Amino acid sequence: MAPVALFIFSLLIHLVVLHSTEEVKINKRCPPYYCHAMAGDIGFPFKSQMQPPECGLFTVNCSDKDHPRIQLIKEGYWHEFHIVPQSDMIIIDDEALQQRLKNDSCNDQLFNDLSLPRPSPIFDELFPRNLTLFKCNNTPVHNTDLKYGCRNPNHTYYTTSPDDSLPSLPPSCSIIRVPMDPKAAFDLSALITRFDLQFQVSEECKGCYERKGECQDDKGKFKCSGGEKGDKLGFKLGLERKSNQSQVPLNRGLLF
Ligand SMILES: *[C@@H]1O[C@H](CO)[C@@H](O)[C@H](O)[C@H]1NC(C)=O
Ligand SMILES: *[C@@H]1O[C@H](CO)[C@@H](O)[C@H](O)[C@H]1NC(C)=O
Ligand SMILES: *[C@@H]1O[C@H](CO)[C@@H](O)[C@H](O)[C@H]1NC(C)=O
Ligand SMILES: *[C@@H]1O[C@H](CO)[C@@H](O)[C@H](O)[C@H]1NC(C)=O
Ligand SMILES: *[C@@H]1O[C@H](CO)[C@@H](O)[C@H](O)[C@H]1NC(C)=O
Repeated sequence: MAPVALFIFSLLIHLVVLHSTEEVKINKRCPPYYCHAMAGDIGFPFKSQMQPPECGLFTVNCSDKDHPRIQLIKEGYWHEFHIVPQSDMIIIDDEALQQRLKNDSCNDQLFNDLSLPRPSPIFDELFPRNLTLFKCNNTPVHNTDLKYGCRNPNHTYYTTSPDDSLPSLPPSCSIIRVPMDPKAAFDLSALITRFDLQFQVSEECKGCYERKGECQDDKGKFKCSGGEKGDKLGFKLGLERKSNQSQVPLNRGLLF
């Protein structure tokens, strides 16, 4: 019996060693990023600018300690944010955008900077109320479902009420989504620059992160790019099952 026991013992040791090198590998590629005393360490789904894309979905920059910033869209605006201690939430609160909104409420760059990410298979749900804007060129649009919003020398903006299913997109228009006051009417006066964000990363994306892949939105379909194939070894299945059962966003504890 002794050789069998020894074999099982060495197998167990082997698994434990594999498991711990696995964790080290994840940590080495994506070590938690120290933001500041209030925010503490930041980890998935957030990453620092120094980390590769697979380390997180949203990039933060904490180099200005009093004004940490987060980018909601790649190449997009850097919003100032606050941490809500003991929760999975951050609050976007950008004073500069607020000033611009007060000063000039129909500006292309302002609407771009306010834009929220498009619906994506990577998040289950993300934002509170948002307003859909149709950004069109200044030739008249004949669509009775669209309500006139505002006009500047470059573009005319229309809104739609949430009860209407989205009208078909006129050829000269594109869609942007902007945060709105949940208590306000669905028009441009409802735009806000301070809003909560609650990140709910999809289970598929969590699994992808654990396999060191990068979550991507491939024309509305989820894609895990560059990750290990996974599921070959017992401990990896274990990791995935653990993440499925918990239903807790991975950032809890890492972030706050
Ligand atoms: C982070 O933001 C600061 C300004 O707050 C900027 O000077 C710095 O270049 C940014 N970091 C990177 C890596 O871009
Ligand atoms: C306010 O808007 C005007 C024109 O729309 C612009 O010239 C001015 O620079 C803006 N001021 C600020 C503080 O953004
Ligand atoms: C119109 O477009 C120009 C060039 O893209 C831009 O500089 C300007 O700010 C835009 N005007 C408004 C009101 O958005
Ligand atoms: C916008 O709001 C709708 C519900 O009104 C929601 O389904 C959608 O996920 C929101 N979009 C974003 C980008 O948060
Ligand atoms: C985890 O959950 C997703 C959907 O919620 C499911 O497709 C997947 O098979 C689950 N994985 C495991 C290992 O249970």
